[in-house]
Amino acid sequence: MGRRMMNDDTRYGIVAIVLHWLIAISVIGLYAVGTIMEDMKPSLQQFELYQLHKSFGICVLLLTALRLVWRLANPQPSLPPKMPGWQKMAAKATHWGFYALLLAAPLAGWAMVSASSLNIPTVIFGLFTLPHIEVIAASTDKQMMEGLFEDLHGLAADSLLVLLVAHVGAALYHHIKLHDSVLLKMLPLSEAAFQERLENERKTHS
Ligand code: HEM
Ligand code: HEM
Repeated sequence: MGRRMMNDDTRYGIVAIVLHWLIAISVIGLYAVGTIMEDMKPSLQQFELYQLHKSFGICVLLLTALRLVWRLANPQPSLPPKMPGWQKMAAKATHWGFYALLLAAPLAGWAMVSASSLNIPTVIFGLFTLPHIEVIAASTDKQMMEGLFEDLHGLAADSLLVLLVAHVGAALYHHIKLHDSVLLKMLPLSEAAFQERLENERKTHS
């Protein structure tokens, strides 16, 4: 029997899991490459890193849109029954904060390059050119906008990192300290391995 595509009440399905980890790896890589490329001196390597950064960044935007649609079409796995209400709320707030930032960071990046007076095209993986956002590229106040979107882009990226620290801290706390199913339901485990952990969660927390 194949692994379920859809989420159910206890765990995420394979589509949500693949999207979660693809986006997570991309965001961590984008943050690192963004920081490194900015400090490089102008060179072909720097130019290519910018293009790669922009290409992966636009992928995150598209994958996040897909992920939100998928989320709306799927049930949400429930959190451990004994988890305090404030922690459930904190988890929810973190997740929605992530979604907002996963859209805001790439959109601000796209807006920034659209406002740039250098007018450098964004060529997605060397395959095709992403158009600039027309209203921004045609604006008379591009210099101000470029600065504004650059600040917003950096702020969104830094906020993603702050949420990530809290998010990973919580995931590891659940897994290592509470021995519940929170982390495992986001991993592509076999049904048997997962059920064992879920059983443990039910025994120790009810
Ligand atoms: C989730 C997606 C993204 C993340 C997490 C991200 C992250 C970052 C980070 C951390 C920096 C360094 C900022 C700094 O040190 O001040 C950066 C710079 C930059 N990013 Fe992104 N980025 C993303 C998407 C994009 C996209 C889609 C574009 C354009 C289409 C883009 C264009 C740029 C540019 C042009 C810079 C250099 C900014 C400058 O010259 O000041 N980014 N990004
Ligand atoms: C920048 C990287 C990451 C982002 C943007 C991110 C984002 C998210 C989002 C938006 C959700 C909610 C999914 C939903 O129900 O719609 C989620 C769930 C989850 N993430 Fe991440 N994540 C990242 C990295 C990680 C890492 C590194 C871990 C593990 C150490 C992790 C573990 C989990 C777990 C266990 C859940 C399920 C939580 C629950 O059921 O409430 N995430 N993540």
